[in-house]
This record gives sequence, structure tokens and C-alpha cells, in this order.
Amino acid sequence: MNNKTLTLLKPDDWHLHVRSGEALKSVIGASARQMGRAIIMPNLNPPVTNSMQANAYRDEILSALPAKSELTPLMVLYLTDTTTPEIITQAHSADVVAAKLYPAGATTNSTRGVTDIQNIYTVLEAMQKIGMPLLVHGEVTRSEVDIFDREAVFIDEVLSQVVQDFPELKIVFEHITTKNAVEFVYESSKQIAATITPQHLLNNRNDMLVGGIKPHTYCLPVLKRAEHQYALIEAATSGNAKFFLGTDSAPHAKHDKESACGCAGVFSAPHAIELYAQAFDQAGAIDKLEGFASKFGADFYTLPHNTSTLTLIKQDWVVPKRYEFANGIIVPFMAGQTLNWTLV
Ligand code: DOR
Ligand code: ZN
Repeated sequence: MNNKTLTLLKPDDWHLHVRSGEALKSVIGASARQMGRAIIMPNLNPPVTNSMQANAYRDEILSALPAKSELTPLMVLYLTDTTTPEIITQAHSADVVAAKLYPAGATTNSTRGVTDIQNIYTVLEAMQKIGMPLLVHGEVTRSEVDIFDREAVFIDEVLSQVVQDFPELKIVFEHITTKNAVEFVYESSKQIAATITPQHLLNNRNDMLVGGIKPHTYCLPVLKRAEHQYALIEAATSGNAKFFLGTDSAPHAKHDKESACGCAGVFSAPHAIELYAQAFDQAGAIDKLEGFASKFGADFYTLPHNTSTLTLIKQDWVVPKRYEFANGIIVPFMAGQTLNWTLV
């Protein structure tokens, strides 16, 4: 590495939403341009709750990939109150790599999520036994809990207990947003890891709310105070292998975001690695990017590192104001703003 170019092993995205149908066709190429593999989130409508649906969704993704582009989709099951241990073992044999806990009502397409963690205890037992990771959207949903506290309360009320009851269960605490989550992951066993998004590294709630509401920065879990952002930057750039890349790129059409009831999700797939490079460079830790982006996630999932590479150069460019999306347009994260690293 010199100070102008940076060559990395190809990264993987350990948390990605690509939707289906026309939306899928318009976003999948962006991830394929830079990622080797991607953990595909199952919160479609209806959700991906069994191995047959996971296989069909995998096929749809593979056939939506533009010619000559490669991306290996890693499929995930959506847990419901009625998921059984048999569904899990069947999915495991069908190369489904993980299952995702959405607390019911926590986020987009989560109405069929889990209403009480006890409802999936036999499922967690089965996952622990076969070594299938549990991916967690870590927020409680009780209406009296302030939206900025929902992650911290989830740690106290749900996750701590799960970790205690299933000490061998591998867990990825997805898109962490608080210093509470960072501390929890540091203090937990090696079975517990976390993904961190580019928006939670580059933004805090002021970026969303000062000077007017910026709907394209609204996601769940919602952006927090700057002190939490700094804890996430510290964790991501620490070189600790428990923290790795997961964009949570979550495409929604412009009109669905710029609405009286705008939906949650930040679209970062087209420039994901450049966004992370920006955050790491600002923290003076660009040398720590490769571990976070290209090694630690694969190690956690016990998969090999990618062998090809990609190169970034330190050169300013401006993020496009919009991309085409299904039958409309989509506004990417940091639209119109300048980034300092460019993917070659
Ligand atoms: O902001 C978010 N958008 N958070 C999620 O958990 C889901 C995602 C989506 O699917 O749009
Ligand atoms: Zn997500």
C-alpha cells in the first residue's frame, strides 16, 4: 500500500437486502461489482421461511445477475413463531447458512417475526447443535420503549439471556448502533460477533435531523448520538475480528422514502467499499479496512477468504444524486456528496 492506492482481498457483504423482481434486477449488479459473497436478508413479502423458498430466491438472484458479474448469495431463513427444528435442519442441508431473528414489528416486513424469544428456544437449540449462526435484529418493540433505547434494552432483556442459555450458539448482532452493543460484543465469547453499516460509521442522528429531516439517512436501528458513532468507529477500526462489514443496504424507491411516513433503509450498495474507506481513512485506520471488509466475516462463518482483489485509489468523486430503480428512481446514501476513495 502507498498513500494513493489500496489493494484489498475482495470484500464480502455480511448483511444485504436485494429485494425481488424488478427491484432485485436493478440493485444486484451494484453489489456484484465489489462483493464476493453476500448474506441475503430474507424479509421479503412473504418472507423466506423454509428451504424451498430459500432455494427459489437463490435461483432468482443468480438469474438476475448481469452477464459476467459474479456474486455468491448466501441464503438466510426468516424465523417465525412457528419455525421448527426440522425446518432448520432441512435448511442446513440445503446450504442455507443462517437464520434471522426479527422481533415482530421491529422493522420492514417483520410482522411475521418472532413475538417472544421463548417461542424459538427449541429452534435455537437445533441451531446451536448444527453450528448455524443466528443473525439478530437487536431491538425490542414495546411501544413504551424510546426508539433510541430499543437496542440497549434488547441487550438487557433478550440477548444477554440467549447468550447465557445457548453458550455455543454463534450469533451475529446485526447493524449495531450503540456503545452498549460494542461493549456487549467485546465482553461476550468468541461466538458473538457484529456487523457495522457505513451509515452508522459516517453519520449520527444530527445528520438525520439538524436543518430538516433527511429521510435517506433514516434506517433501523435508527442513527444514535455521536458518542455511539465514535464507539462504532473505534470497534470497526480496532482490528478486532468480532466486528465486520455488513452494509444493510436496503433499497426503497425515492417516493417511499420522501413521504409523510417514509420507510426505513439506506441504499449503500453502489459505493459500499468507498463509504467504508472514507470512514476508516477519516479515523486514520485505512490499514485496518481489509481485515474488517475481507477477512473477519469469512472467518466467523468458517468460509475461505476470497482470492481475487480490488483496488481503491485516493481520488475524489461525487456520489450520483439518483439511480434507476425498478420503475422509478432511488437515492443512494450521501447522494451529491464527495467521497475521497474511488473503486478502480
Ligand atoms: O433500515 C432498515 N431497513 N432496517 C431493517 O432492519 C430492514 C431494512 C429493510 O428491509 O428495508
Ligand atoms: Zn437489514
